[in-house]
Amino acid sequence: MSSENQRVSNSETDAFFVFADNDDTFIFADDNDGQPINEDDRGSQAVSNSPPAPVAVWKILIVDDDVLVHRATILALEDCTFEGKPLTFLHAHSATEAKYLIQTHPDTALILLDVVMETDDAGLQVVQYIRAELHNHQVRIILRTGQPGEAPEASVILNYDINDYRLKTELTRQKLITVVISSLRSYGNILKIENQNSELTLALQHLQQTQAQLIQAEKMSSLGEIVAGVAHEINNPTNFIYGNLFHTETYVQSLLKLIKTYQEHYPTPVDAIQTIAESIDLPFLMEDLPKLFDSMRVGTERIKHIVESLRNFSRLDEAEIKPVDIHSGIESTLLILQHRLQANANRPTIAVIKEYGQLPLVNCYVGALNQVFMNILSNAIDALEMGTGDCRITSETFSLPTIHIRTEIQDANRVLIRIADNGTGMSESILKRIFNPFFTTKPVGSGTGLGLSISYSIVVEQHRGHLTCSSAPGKGTEFVIDIFI
Ligand SMILES: Nc1ncnc2c1ncn2[C@@H]1O[C@H](COP(=O)(O)OP(=O)(O)OP(=O)(O)O)[C@@H](O)[C@H]1O
Ligand SMILES: [Mg+2]
Repeated sequence: MSSENQRVSNSETDAFFVFADNDDTFIFADDNDGQPINEDDRGSQAVSNSPPAPVAVWKILIVDDDVLVHRATILALEDCTFEGKPLTFLHAHSATEAKYLIQTHPDTALILLDVVMETDDAGLQVVQYIRAELHNHQVRIILRTGQPGEAPEASVILNYDINDYRLKTELTRQKLITVVISSLRSYGNILKIENQNSELTLALQHLQQTQAQLIQAEKMSSLGEIVAGVAHEINNPTNFIYGNLFHTETYVQSLLKLIKTYQEHYPTPVDAIQTIAESIDLPFLMEDLPKLFDSMRVGTERIKHIVESLRNFSRLDEAEIKPVDIHSGIESTLLILQHRLQANANRPTIAVIKEYGQLPLVNCYVGALNQVFMNILSNAIDALEMGTGDCRITSETFSLPTIHIRTEIQDANRVLIRIADNGTGMSESILKRIFNPFFTTKPVGSGTGLGLSISYSIVVEQHRGHLTCSSAPGKGTEFVIDIFI
């Protein structure tokens, strides 16, 4: 529609404007209103009929290739406010300009959109662009057509996501105000609902996080209790054995000494003694007994060490932050996972390479940090069950399943603990979600998807540190725990 065959009138008594085919003059509110926007200041040149730069305004985009329609619209709406906020106008004179403006002003509340501009369906293309490409479903769109035949209402309403369809001729000033205000109201309501939605989503995330923490805390505290209980039960009998071993060895050595002395003084014993000595292979027994004691001592010392590690791991009751030897936490965790490192039908033994730096005692919640080691190491073992890639912690590549643990001091006040595996690694889309509560790629029943989200909150929230992960398919995975000393 061209501007020559249109007229807009605005009278104080009969406040309406019509579009008709005659040459009557148009009453301009302001000579600058409705002018096309220069390429250079697109997006910033919003013609406003309200006091300068209010913080919250209703942005209305007028799209029409007829400059008079812009002016008439502004004349009709210039005094309007809604919910105490003024209206401000953006002007586009073609579909191309409209697309640009809506892209740069995504907070536009309403578009008054002409249909026929560069092409017969230019306006409809704008609707498609806004909804399908920009995914802007908030902005209200009122289609204003010049002729009913231009874009048949029924099919347009069905096929395009518009909110109202009006003939320009039916829009008197009062009707325009009415449709604009009702559109602004529904835009405002949509924003409110969206705000509430995002608040609800946040609340839901928070709830999920709390639920995850509760479940994991419960899981870990039962594990801690079991471990502490088992450690206690093993500890007492081990102490009997270890405590009596020394006396037993002393007694046995005394008896052996006695036998040797007998042999020296009675080199030819009576037959009955001779027979027994032969049947028990006395020379071998006398040589082997001290060795047995050595291995029994090594065995019981190992049990004591395991018990100590189990107790160390289960120090969940220690709610206070205190100086801790990080390496002993890692060692205890490895010890608990020892059985999972051993060779099985699908893979050889998992090698654990340790490069421990000189670390001071680190102020931390020891039980919580042990949980983090446990979660990360169990995940590494799980990944190695699935296959082996390259280990990326050093330039070396390992063909056998390997977990590489490295600790170091950073900037004199931080400790970095790197735990890498040469397992299957992760795709970028998985990597993005690993810290989300309940995110798991493991089969139902074998993973709850809580390990890393809990580890994240322990490292980041409880210890004010950082927990990062880098991984790529076939390239293994590395977690870095970064905490202050
Ligand atoms: N070292 C790793 N290598 C490959 N993928 C990993 C590794 N660590 C974590 N992931 C991926 O991150 C997901 C989330 O790990 P997370 O520890 O939070 O849960 P989970 O191990 O699946 O279950 P849960 O630990 O609760 O038993 C895993 O399911 C896995 O897909
Ligand atoms: Mg896990």
